[in-house]
Amino acid sequence: MGSNTLTITDNRTGKTFEIPIENGTIRAMDLRQIKAGKDDFGLMTYDPSFMNTSSCKSRITYIDGDVGILEYRGYPIDQLAEKSTFLEVAYLLLHGELPTAAELDGFIKHVKIHTYVHENVKKCMEGFRHDAHPMGMLLSTVGVLSTFYPDAKKIFDASLRYHHIIRILAKMPTIAAFAYRHSIGFPYVYPDNDLSYTGNFLSMMKKMAEPKYQVNPILERALDVLFILHADHEQNCSTNAMRGVGSAHTDPYSCVAAATAALYGPLHGGANEAVLKMLRELGSVKNVPAFVKDIKEGSGEKRLMGFGHRVYKNYDPRAKVIKKLAEEVFEVTGKNPLLEIAIELERIALQDDYFVKRKLYPNVDFYSGLIYEAMGFPTDYFTVLFAIPRAVGWLSQWQEMLNDPDQKIARPRQVYLGSPRRDYIPLEERK
Ligand code: CMC
Repeated sequence: MGSNTLTITDNRTGKTFEIPIENGTIRAMDLRQIKAGKDDFGLMTYDPSFMNTSSCKSRITYIDGDVGILEYRGYPIDQLAEKSTFLEVAYLLLHGELPTAAELDGFIKHVKIHTYVHENVKKCMEGFRHDAHPMGMLLSTVGVLSTFYPDAKKIFDASLRYHHIIRILAKMPTIAAFAYRHSIGFPYVYPDNDLSYTGNFLSMMKKMAEPKYQVNPILERALDVLFILHADHEQNCSTNAMRGVGSAHTDPYSCVAAATAALYGPLHGGANEAVLKMLRELGSVKNVPAFVKDIKEGSGEKRLMGFGHRVYKNYDPRAKVIKKLAEEVFEVTGKNPLLEIAIELERIALQDDYFVKRKLYPNVDFYSGLIYEAMGFPTDYFTVLFAIPRAVGWLSQWQEMLNDPDQKIARPRQVYLGSPRRDYIPLEERK
C-alpha cells in the first residue's frame, strides 16, 4: 500500500479501496468505482458552492486565507502594489513572468492601439436608458463586442486569441468610461493614448472642454494600485463563471460578459457599493454599536458588508494596502466623512466575539469604496472599477483552462431528490 494514498472502506459492502492522493487532493472520479451493488452508479461527492472542491490546477494566483497571503505568479501582492504597474501585472498574469523593459514597452503599445471602439458600439450604448446601471451597460456592451469580432470564436488559434485578449484589456476602460458619461448625459471622450492606462481612463471619465486632461499623478497611481489589487483572485465566483462558460468554447467577449454578470452580485464585486450604502445609512459613529448588535441578533440576512470572505479567515492583504492608500488619496481629495464610521465599525467588529469566532475581517471592499467616492466616482460605479482590472485575471484563467488537457465542458452532477417515475395524467383527469 503506497503512503500517498487514501484507504476507504465501504461499510455497505465491506470492500476496501486505495485511492491516490495528488497535491493534497483525491480525484472525485476515483470514487466512482465504489459501488453498493452491480447497478449502482458509483459514489459521488456532494459539494454545493464548491466549499471543498478544486475545479482546476492553476499556476496563476496563490492565496493562503488562514494567514492572509495573496501572490500573483509567486509575487506577493504588497510588493506588486508598491513597485509595479497595472499593465506590468497584466503581462505577468497572462505570460507567467515579469516582462523585460522591451517586452513591457511592446505590450503597452499593443494595448494602446486597441483602446478605441467601433462607432457602432457607441451607438449601441446610446440606446441605454439614462439611469441604466453602469454594470448592466458594461456587461452587455462587452457581450456586444463578440458580434463585432466573429473571428474571436477561433479560440484555439493562439495568436488570434491573444489579440482578442489585448482588445478586451484595452477596451474595458473605454466602455466603462462611456457608460459613466452616458449616465450623466455628457459626450463620450475618446481615448488619449499619450496617457497611461489609468491616466487615459481618468481622462475619458472627467475631461470636459480642455484640450488635454491634466491627470493628478497621485490619483492616477492610486487607481493603478487599486487595479493591481483587483487583477486576479483565483477561483472566485466570477472566475468560475468565466471558466464555466469558457469550457463550452464560447468566445472570450461572451465569457467576459458572463463573468461581469457574476461580479455584479452584492455578495461578490457589488459589495463595495453595498458598503457605502451601509455607511451612509449609519450616518454617524454613534449608531455603530446598535448596528453591530442588530447584525448579531438578526437571523443572518443582515450582514456587515465588506466583512468576511470565503477564503480569507484573516485580514485580507488587499484591505491592508487599501487602508494605507486611502490616506494618500485623502491628502489630495480631502477626507471622506464616512471614513470615521468605517474605522469605528472595524474597531468594534474586530473585538466582538461574533466576528472573532467566525473569523470575519475586513475584505478588499471595505475601504475601496471610500477611495472611489473621494475620487468622485458615483457609488453604483464602484463595481465597474473592480471589473476593469479583473478582466485580465479572467482572461488569464480562461487561457490557462483552454491549454489544460484535464479540462472538459464544466458539467456538475446532481443528487436527484424529486419524484420517481410516474405517468402523465391528462388535464381533464387531474384533481
Ligand atoms: N456580516 C455578518 N455575519 C457574517 C458576514 C458578514 N459580513 N459574513 C459571514 N457572516 C456569518 C454568517 O452569517 C455565518 O454565520 P453562522 O455560522 O452563524 O450561520 C458565518 O459568518 C459564515 O458565513 P458564510 O455565509 O457561510 O460564509 P461564506 O464563505 O459563504 O461567505 C461572503 C463569504 C463574502 C459571501 C460573506 O462573508 C459575506 O456575505 N460578506 C459580506 C459581503 C462582502 O463583503 N462580499 C465581498 C467579498 S470580497 C470581494 C469579492 O470576492 O468579491
